[in-house]
Amino acid sequence: MRESEHSPCILGIESSCDETSAAILQGFDVHSHIVYSQMIHKKYGGVVPELASRAHEHAISQVVDAAFEASGKKPEDIDAVAATYGPGLMGALLVGLNFAKGFALAADIPLIGVNHLEAHLYASMLEFPELKTPYLCLLVSGGHSMLVDVSGIRDFTILGNTRDDAAGESFDKVARLLDIGYPGGPQIDALSDSGDPRAIAFPRSLLEPDSLDFSFSGMKTAVLNHVRKQAQLSEQDKADIAAAFQEAVVDVLKEKLRRAVKRSGHKRIVLAGGVAANRRLRAELKKMAEKMDLQLFYPPLEYCTDNAAMIAATAVLYHREGLFSDMNIVAIPNLKLA
Ligand code: KG4
Ligand code: ZN
Repeated sequence: MRESEHSPCILGIESSCDETSAAILQGFDVHSHIVYSQMIHKKYGGVVPELASRAHEHAISQVVDAAFEASGKKPEDIDAVAATYGPGLMGALLVGLNFAKGFALAADIPLIGVNHLEAHLYASMLEFPELKTPYLCLLVSGGHSMLVDVSGIRDFTILGNTRDDAAGESFDKVARLLDIGYPGGPQIDALSDSGDPRAIAFPRSLLEPDSLDFSFSGMKTAVLNHVRKQAQLSEQDKADIAAAFQEAVVDVLKEKLRRAVKRSGHKRIVLAGGVAANRRLRAELKKMAEKMDLQLFYPPLEYCTDNAAMIAATAVLYHREGLFSDMNIVAIPNLKLA
């Protein structure tokens, strides 16, 4: 059943990296969702912090206005305003958080500061509002690779964490080596269709036998060494490298998730973060879930990568518990999940 009119109406804002996004939700019903992806970083092959904050400043009012227009809601319909306060780029976070503070003051409504990582954990609730905790979440994004035991709101245990390059970061770096564009994950995902995943045997870094941590920097270096040995890369070589690297990352994620399921005993598995958009990962985990008799949830593609709908959804949960933020809340670039 969908949320009723009595559920809080939330304006959510996300500006932690290179997406300026606003969404208006009534409960978990998304009335509007606008994402402005900053294209300026493409030519640098990565996000340039100073350019990101400037672009957020430029876009924020228009993005929020567009969210209101698309939703049919008015500012006076909003019960609370939520914004990411970390982790992320300081200047970028400040734009969204300060905008939300201004809105909360002007409309005289509560402010809810949201941890961006926590929002990724709940993004599947936008598609499955009935999804209940506890569950095991594999959170794989540009900045993090984590396995999290989610018991409830603000109640998590981190089972495995990022040791060096995050999963998405390794996709981005390999894509840069292949000169196929930024962000790398979607490019490698697409290019892999025409490559052979068995063409090159890249290593699978699994760390210690009992470890649920992730390490992708060695795998990225293996690609670098392979590329350096080639005089020239044909389009087919690039596709084979992309497919073989993607396969190696997916194998590692699958094995770590399998270990975490065995250890935690969870039957509900939730995928989250930008890398959760990867088609090969989704297909392989679906097979694994069937084999191990697990329920697998993943958000629609638009809610895997950074978006304000997941920020507003987290605020819906906080609003229910009366968890509001002080106006003095500050942006915390290295904010942790737990
Ligand atoms: O969650 P997200 O939007 O931002 C962070 O919080 O970091 O994740 C962005 C990351 C990027 O590294 C991007 O390359 C990766 O997610 N990504 C993918 C795919 N789509 C986005 N990686 C693999 N396959 C994809 N289809
Ligand atoms: Zn993110």
